[in-house]
Amino acid sequence: MTTDVLVIGGGVIGLATAIELKLRSHCVTILVRDFNSGASHAAAGMLAPEAEQISPGAMLDLCMRSRQLYPDWTSKIEQLSGLSTGYWNCGILAPVYEQTNRNNAQWLDKSATSKHQPNLSADVVGSWWYPEDGQVDNRALTLALCACAIALGVILQDEVTVKNFIYQQNRVIGVCTTNNEVIHAEHYLLATGAWSQELLPIPVQPKKGQMLSVRATEKELPLKQVLFAPDIYIVPRADGRIVIGATMEDVGFTPYNTPAGMQLLLQRAIRLFPPLQHYPIEEFWWGFRPATPDELPILGASPYSNLTLATGHYRNGILLAPVTANLIADVIEGQAAADSLLKHFHYSRFTNS
Ligand code: FAD
Ligand code: GLY
Repeated sequence: MTTDVLVIGGGVIGLATAIELKLRSHCVTILVRDFNSGASHAAAGMLAPEAEQISPGAMLDLCMRSRQLYPDWTSKIEQLSGLSTGYWNCGILAPVYEQTNRNNAQWLDKSATSKHQPNLSADVVGSWWYPEDGQVDNRALTLALCACAIALGVILQDEVTVKNFIYQQNRVIGVCTTNNEVIHAEHYLLATGAWSQELLPIPVQPKKGQMLSVRATEKELPLKQVLFAPDIYIVPRADGRIVIGATMEDVGFTPYNTPAGMQLLLQRAIRLFPPLQHYPIEEFWWGFRPATPDELPILGASPYSNLTLATGHYRNGILLAPVTANLIADVIEGQAAADSLLKHFHYSRFTNS
């Protein structure tokens, strides 16, 4: 089988880039081991460059650019797929238990905070308000991206694992799959998230996050924006589901939810928003963030002339999907030099020291 571009990985990064390439008239195939085990399925879906307090510099610029793309990008995906993405520019409130300084954020004192969001913990002394941050329902987004890709004619092969690349000098000439098939392409995109080291020696490690969800029982939503406290976040979906996360664990690919992880999340979430303690629990799950040593993604060229990298998005891959798709499609089309941001995310920063 041959194709113009072979995308390995079906998380938001692989899917979004495949769609962008298809819209630019490339013939695109995606190979995916398992949709539901990716970080894109596990995430909270916050679009939170400000609440996450990303330091000023290239990463913040990248995140802000992507947040700006979100309304038009999701509406395009919704039109093409006929499915909702759950994009909601609801703002993020960051309550704190002791006041510290933050740049460029709006401070709400205790009374303004409780007007903004009733029923928070009595321990909350105030909050920072980020009206431009928001959320998307990452599971709905992933489904919509899949449907969009299929509607546009991207070939999507699920339950196919790439075992290795086949190289000739400085080019990739094919991939071997666990179905013992060899697939050839003109260009290859590695978008395999936390599993990237299985295929290429680049420093991407899993950072496990445990999560859970409850469901609000009131008719009216008890939370109308995301809450992002120093040790816990609570993300209310428009349908009454409330997502709570997340642990940050260096345990490799160890699966499962643990009692300790769940206890930590529940204690912190109930402290922040006590009404939660009465809501029915819906689900527990976990996922693996693709983390690099400097916590920045790896975007663009690889040591091989026709292999491009889009991995290592760590805590912000849902946010970064639209900007990654645009930049990586430019790289594959040879226009990357046009964007000065990309040099900050080159893989060689880990090999040139
Ligand atoms: P993934 O979604 O992990 O997808 C990788 C894909 O590659 C999978 O489909 C997998 O099956 C496939 N694959 C791997 N190896 C192979 C192979 N050899 N052959 C074929 N296929 C392969 N980000 C935000 O912006 N906001 C948030 O609120 C947020 N919350 C998070 C909460 C948690 C608990 C976690 C774990 C992550 C969170 N993130 C968040 C981060 C975000 O989820 C990730 O950065 C993003 O999903 C990475 O997307 P990806 O497509 O690179 O990887
Ligand atoms: N961005 C939230 C998380 O990674 O848990």
